[in-house]
Amino acid sequence: MAFEAIFQPLKFKNLTVKNRVFRSNVSGRFDNYDGSGNQARINWEVKFAKGGVGAIVSSFVPVLLRGRIVPNYAMIDNDRHIPFWRAVGKAVHEHDCRSFCSSAMPGGSGTSRAWKSRPA
Ligand SMILES: Cc1cc2nc3c(=O)[nH]c(=O)nc-3n(C[C@H](O)[C@H](O)[C@H](O)COP(=O)(O)O)c2cc1C
Repeated sequence: MAFEAIFQPLKFKNLTVKNRVFRSNVSGRFDNYDGSGNQARINWEVKFAKGGVGAIVSSFVPVLLRGRIVPNYAMIDNDRHIPFWRAVGKAVHEHDCRSFCSSAMPGGSGTSRAWKSRPA
């Protein structure tokens, strides 16, 4: 079958993804203005997980408020946001999907890193 590799597992050093279909870093502006997340984000990510993608790469997740280029995107500039990102990971793990958080400092420095979550 053509393209069969797409449905083969993808192994990283410490992580295996069930297939090579990754949802790209896209989001709507449905998080809270204060940088916290809410159920709308979880519902959005879960739609892709249920649909069978192997992994989801989050939209940019600012690590500092001054790095936020657009409001209403959930941030990770404070430990109080960690439970939300855990909840996102847990929700997609239920569909055997992995979650990558694209922590970012857009703007001046232009640096961005992705980190992954794995089932506990
Ligand atoms: C509404 C929207 C939000 C996006 N947000 C991000 C983002 O937060 N971080 C990022 O790296 N790319 C973001 N992108 C870029 C996408 O991840 C993707 O690279 C881009 O849409 C090109 O892919 P496509 O041709 O399949 O649309 C966004 C794209 C769209 C349309």
